[in-house]
Amino acid sequence: MGCDWVEEAKRRAAVEAVKNIKDNFIVGLGSGSTAAYAIEEIGRMIREKGLRILGVPSSYQSLIMAAKFKVPTTTLYEHPLIDLTIDGADQIDRNLNLIKGGGGALTREKVIAASSRCLIIVADERKLTDNLGRGQLLPVEILPFAEPLVTAKIREMGGKPYLRESKKGVPFITDNGNFILDVDFGVIENPLELERRLKMIPGVVETGLFVGMVKAAYIGTRTAVKKISVSGE
Ligand code: A5P
Repeated sequence: MGCDWVEEAKRRAAVEAVKNIKDNFIVGLGSGSTAAYAIEEIGRMIREKGLRILGVPSSYQSLIMAAKFKVPTTTLYEHPLIDLTIDGADQIDRNLNLIKGGGGALTREKVIAASSRCLIIVADERKLTDNLGRGQLLPVEILPFAEPLVTAKIREMGGKPYLRESKKGVPFITDNGNFILDVDFGVIENPLELERRLKMIPGVVETGLFVGMVKAAYIGTRTAVKKISVSGE
């Protein structure tokens, strides 16, 4: 309701980003509803243009999408270097730093991103922000065993952690068998410093902060697609 343009904006952003894929590319397949449009478009390119592309899924969701749209998949064992990854985001700042993990796939998404020569983000314009963390919780994947410790340490840092649930009283379980804490840190002034501090807590597997990893973002607006590059090109 009131957001009819959003799905179209996501799709347009995804279709534009997929134009960066060339024949024989190994492509990282992101997770979430916007990345799903990209996977669908990759499937169309394979079918209609005969491109030889292999996808590396970042979640069971993207693996299932790849199967649905007939995108052949591979693994990091076979292809440790990915040419291009196309993924979504929950928040994007001016420097193209991100908060990700709304769908709980942050750890594999970050491994895929770090294995990629190029990471392109696709999103609708509601995801743009001046400050990461404003009105947005930060997902942190943790070992279930370590939840009491991690929760206490995050509280000491001034964060308010909430254990993600799939339904009331039942913890959400990631593809890696872990829990997610959604943490309210308020506005995150220094994402890299926060990332470093969180990663020092034993039991933290990964955070949803993606700092300095993105090459470009395709942002779907109500009427068009805007490309934002780190280099400003
Ligand atoms: C998955 O865990 C996330 O990182 C997604 O990439 C993010 O939540 C964006 O999803 P949507 O495209 O559905 O908004």
